[in-house]
Amino acid sequence: MHVLGIETSCDETGVAVWDGDSGLVWDRLFSQIDLHAEYGGVVPELAARDHLQRLAPMVEAALEEAPAPDVVAYTAGPGLVGALLVGAALGQALAAGRNIPAIGINHLEAHLLAPLMEADAPDFPFVALLVSGGHTLLVEARGLGEYKLLGTTLDDAAGEAFDKTASLLDLPYPGGPALAKLAATSEGGRFKLPRPLLDRPGCDFSFSGLKTAALYAARELQPGDTEGRAALARDFEDAVIDTLAAKCKRALESTGLGTLVAAGGVAANQRLRTRLRELPNAQVRFPDTGLCTDNGAMIAYAGWL
Ligand code: KG4
Ligand code: ZN
Repeated sequence: MHVLGIETSCDETGVAVWDGDSGLVWDRLFSQIDLHAEYGGVVPELAARDHLQRLAPMVEAALEEAPAPDVVAYTAGPGLVGALLVGAALGQALAAGRNIPAIGINHLEAHLLAPLMEADAPDFPFVALLVSGGHTLLVEARGLGEYKLLGTTLDDAAGEAFDKTASLLDLPYPGGPALAKLAATSEGGRFKLPRPLLDRPGCDFSFSGLKTAALYAARELQPGDTEGRAALARDFEDAVIDTLAAKCKRALESTGLGTLVAAGGVAANQRLRTRLRELPNAQVRFPDTGLCTDNGAMIAYAGWL
């Protein structure tokens, strides 16, 4: 069976075809990063209009170059509503025109299942950490469709905190990778930033206080203090990583599970990966970096499952 997947929830247009026998057979991604860079964040209306321009030619290319789809899977949400509508409308129309089913996919479930696409994929059950620009979740995944929410953010997502702090440091959008690069040039230790909610039981997260602490710290920096900027980047990254790792440890302990899967854009962070790999009694898995961020392949795959 061939599933054509369409992703348009935010600022990436993704189209892919998953073959039930041989896996991913066609995959294309267009990132709108350049379009939004001058605004320092995703502009929803621009995102929707750009998906409208890019999506149809990408789907046409898939139909020409890949095996004909038996099912169309599109991201139904959560995401930017105008952006989602473009993918949903095209996906539904394509399926109706070909008289095949269209399946709406939950974007977060697709992120959570993405690690299973890989050759040496982990098996259920596992704990999933989903850390992206819009979400920070810990989920106990017992089987397909059997998910228990262990914790979520009470305010900002981890990626959002990375992006906002990066913008305080005048780093380009998207801030996460740029901040990580700057952090790698410093040992940190200059700013005492909070590790929110570590003193409370449970697996919920909060990043808005940390973001505010970073704002006050950034105000102390003198113009031209490049070492200070790097130290703040490092101290901020350390605070996020400490918090995420502590909650993952708690989630593994409370569920008694031995596998942790980390997905979403922030899971591309190399120092987070290193820290999570050091968690005791846990096998930790990360999807390929390209599968961590938004893509059409994970939507096609979730549709196939
Ligand atoms: O999953 P994703 O591509 O899109 C959403 O669904 O949000 O995640 C994007 C987020 C952005 O906030 C970006 O700054 C962050 O992931 N990100 C990173 C890194 N790479 C991407 N954050 C920290 N370190 C990275 N290396
Ligand atoms: Zn995403």
